[in-house]
Amino acid sequence: MTLQRIKTLTQFIVERQSQYPQAKGALTRLINDIATAAKIVNREINAAGLVDILGFEGADNIQGEAQKKLDVYANERFIEALKGGGECCAIASEENEKIISFQNEFSEMGKYVVAIDPLDGSSNIEANVSIGTVFSIYRRISDLGGGKLEDMLQPGINIVAAGYVIYGSSTMLVYSTGHGVNGFTLDPSVGIFCLSHPDMRFPEPPTIYSINEGKYASFPAGVKKYIKYCQVEDPVSFRPYTSRYIGSMVADFHRNLIKGGIFMYPGTTKQPKGKLRLLYECNPVAFIAEQAGGRASDGYKRILEIEPKTLHQRSPLFIGPKSMVEKVEEFLSKPAND
Ligand code: AHG
Ligand code: MN
Ligand code: MN
Repeated sequence: MTLQRIKTLTQFIVERQSQYPQAKGALTRLINDIATAAKIVNREINAAGLVDILGFEGADNIQGEAQKKLDVYANERFIEALKGGGECCAIASEENEKIISFQNEFSEMGKYVVAIDPLDGSSNIEANVSIGTVFSIYRRISDLGGGKLEDMLQPGINIVAAGYVIYGSSTMLVYSTGHGVNGFTLDPSVGIFCLSHPDMRFPEPPTIYSINEGKYASFPAGVKKYIKYCQVEDPVSFRPYTSRYIGSMVADFHRNLIKGGIFMYPGTTKQPKGKLRLLYECNPVAFIAEQAGGRASDGYKRILEIEPKTLHQRSPLFIGPKSMVEKVEEFLSKPAND
């Protein structure tokens, strides 16, 4: 690797920022803070097989799901980094029931708020399967002082920047500030994210569908029909599609962004709103998908246009190349007995 050919994350965001003379660098610093915390979390994840950090922490998170120690660790690292960075006045995390508002500290002056799932796919940790972090950044709408709930309950169309980190066979940070999507791979020997995937787009033709088919019986009729459609042989439309499902949304989404495919987490009879959380799971990947030329929908409407009512609300998610998402929406819009 020759130095001339490497563009680091820091160089990249500084270059991008210089295209906007009015920018004061706050967003740049905020993304850097997230990248720093991600490196620390990455180090811990890599060491997880060596130290006794795996297993249940004991407490349940507010959704009643058992927390693993690494969820707690990752949550703490991101909160520390964002609080210490001073650009963010509040955080909404999957792991905390209420928002974390930075009151009476220099961070209360921060212009931004962050919604984050510090560790996504945590049930996969013991199996050494890829996991991730997902985040989105909004400009605060409240006056100065610690961030408020209203700052967090903004629709995804207000996102200023969003991204994810995938801790996989290599560690990557993929993010967008609304001008395309770029991916950076961590060089672990020097601890630097390097631009490896410039201007990411869903490739054509897409050929993958990803869904937990174990829940087939309780999916809406339109989803069942779409799954069957994916399995039909039709060489003209490159079907049957291949089925791939990891069970870590970040990893499933990332693979589908690289290889071309749709990821679906529909509502079920038991959970009509599905499992994934709108603010810190669906919205950030929806923002990335749209910036990569794709679409993200709850089956009927654009994810980014949903007005959040509560911090931890869930939404069905259909995300991927536009043509695939529009197809499943078409199936969902038809009467059940059609
Ligand atoms: P988390 O680990 O943050 O709770 O998220 C897990 C999510 C998501 O990553 C994944 O797509 C989904 O759970 C998998 O759910 P199923 O096991 O129901 O398929
Ligand atoms: Mn998650
Ligand atoms: Mn999580």
